Amino acid sequence: MRVGFFQFAPQFGEVSHNLDKVVETLDRADADLIVLPELFASGYQFVSQQEVITLSELVPNGPTTQRLIDLAKRRRMVIVAGLPERAGAACYNSAVVVGPSGFIGCYRKTHLFFEETLFFAPGDTGFQVWDIGPAKIGVMICFDWYYPEAARTLALKGAEIICHPSNLVLPNCPDSMPVRCLENRVFAVTCNRTGSEARGGKDRLTFIGNSEVVAPRGAILHRAPREQDELCILEIDPADARNKAVTPYNDLLRDRRESLYR
Ligand code: ACM
Repeated sequence: MRVGFFQFAPQFGEVSHNLDKVVETLDRADADLIVLPELFASGYQFVSQQEVITLSELVPNGPTTQRLIDLAKRRRMVIVAGLPERAGAACYNSAVVVGPSGFIGCYRKTHLFFEETLFFAPGDTGFQVWDIGPAKIGVMICFDWYYPEAARTLALKGAEIICHPSNLVLPNCPDSMPVRCLENRVFAVTCNRTGSEARGGKDRLTFIGNSEVVAPRGAILHRAPREQDELCILEIDPADARNKAVTPYNDLLRDRRESLYR
C-alpha cells in the first residue's frame, strides 16, 4: 500500500489557491492514501468568529470537499484533509475522508488547542475507523496526539493506520508519535504544515513541518524537513499493524487490565 502526505504552507484565506496547489501536486502522485494538513485550505490563525463562519464549509456538499472528491476519483486515492466545517450554528475543526467512491466520512477534532477553543465547538463524532480496502484507517487531528486515549481508541476500534492532519506549533509531536505507534502497534501518517501566521496583531505562530510516517514498532520511515514543501509517498504493509503480539506471552491489546484503569 502506498501512503504519504503533502506538507506545504497554506496561505490564510486563499482557499482556491491552496486547493489548486494540492490538486496540481496530487495530480502527479501515485498513492493509495494521502494525508493533508489540518485546515489545509483555509489557514489556521483566525481572529474572529465571523472569519471562521465565512471560511467554514458544509460537509460533504461544500466546495473544498467536492473538489477533493473529484481529485480522489480521478487519482483513485483516499484523501484525508482538514477543514473548518459549518454544521448549523456550529463550526468544527474537522477532517474529511474521501475516496474513489466519493465521500467516506468526517471526524470533528476532539481536543481543541489554544485559541481554537474560542472559535470551534469541541468535536462530537468520537474516534471512527473506516475500512478503505487495503487497510482500516482512523483519524485524529493535531493536538489529539497529546491525549494517548485518542490513538488507543482508534487502535481498539481496529485502525491500522492513524491519519493525523496537523498544524503543529509545539515541538514535541514528531518525537512522540513513534511512542503512540509502538504502544498501539499502528502506522501513523502525521501531515503538518510549514510557514507562519501572525494575523490581527496576534503573536506569530510558526508551524514546525517535520511531517512523518511512522511504523508500528516506532520506526520513523520518513520525516520531512521543517520548512520545505514535500510530497512523500512510501510503500507500507498494513498487515504489520495487525499482529499485536509483543512476546509469545504478551498481546498488546488483549492483555489490557481495563478494570484497573479506572
Ligand atoms: C494544534 O492542535 N493545531 C496544535
